Amino acid sequence: MKKIILTGDRPTGRLHLGHYIGSLKNRVELQDEYDQYILVADIQALTDNAENPQKVRDNVKELLLDYLSVGIDPSKTTICIQSLIPAIAELTVFYLNLVTVARLERNPTVKSEIKLRAFSGGIPAGFLTYPVSQAADITAFGAHLVPAGEDQAPMIEQTCEIVRKFNTLYGEILTEPKIILSKTPRLIGTDGKSKMSKSLGNTIYLSDSADEIERKVMGMFTDPNHLKVSDPGDTKNNPVFIYLDAFGLDREKIDSLKAQYEKGGLGDVKVKRYLNEVLQATLEPIRKKRELLEKDLSSIYKIAFEGTEKAKALTSKTLEKVKAAMKIDYKEINTSHES
Ligand code: TRP
Repeated sequence: MKKIILTGDRPTGRLHLGHYIGSLKNRVELQDEYDQYILVADIQALTDNAENPQKVRDNVKELLLDYLSVGIDPSKTTICIQSLIPAIAELTVFYLNLVTVARLERNPTVKSEIKLRAFSGGIPAGFLTYPVSQAADITAFGAHLVPAGEDQAPMIEQTCEIVRKFNTLYGEILTEPKIILSKTPRLIGTDGKSKMSKSLGNTIYLSDSADEIERKVMGMFTDPNHLKVSDPGDTKNNPVFIYLDAFGLDREKIDSLKAQYEKGGLGDVKVKRYLNEVLQATLEPIRKKRELLEKDLSSIYKIAFEGTEKAKALTSKTLEKVKAAMKIDYKEINTSHES
């Protein structure tokens, strides 16, 4: 039996280069070896987008297009939609009894997200408790492994606590998951500041046009002290070189460009033109595939709905075991009146 992998994304935006090297490429590799599920986490997206259902709905489509255009293969990976899987909602309700409000308030991911979002009317209870819903996602599928970035580690930890509590109280039913930490460091934005993020406007999307990519690359931040071509420049904290390292294939050429840049005598524009070539080569086949899929949207939803049916079958089995263990399955009661 292959081990089960679950990953997921909130449908709140199109996927970008950071997602590509941080997780998508990895998923394409993992799908050969594991029984992989990818969850479009629309319920989780609504926890801080309750007033914006159309945004979530639109981005479900974008996620499906992004997955399929980078090479997620529906014959190997099951893509499914969270809100269409009732077992997840039911499990969430049961697990809420196993977690304290204080523990949720201490969750580092939730804490930092609350800070970022500055909810004006107070913190929605659904947002505070989304780690419980994520524990339901992970355990519903019986996932052994969850590939994710460092920021998701507290989510997996909280899931493991819920699993242990559940299993102690009700018997060994749930599987404790392990995180597979992404090997690539988080990709910084084109502005050289922290991570790529839509709100900072420093992203290159997988679905950007060739012109948009070129414009973004030519506008990238470099070494601020590299003023004249002849000045020696820094390649380490320089996003242009960081991207070349991440996406370039010609190591020799990249190393020689780095040496030249560090010595002085290589202009930013030249390096950026090369990076543009590299990124165009990476993204063109993805964009082409995406354009084809966009012409046949019913086929991408068909894939997601079929995946969801498979997910429903698997997760409802978990739910049945959970209910039996919690003594709320009522299956042994016989109401037929034959004597
Ligand atoms: N919290 C994840 C994120 O923001 C998305 C997610 C939802 C997820 N459910 C999941 C990830 C289950 C892994 C497993 O990226």
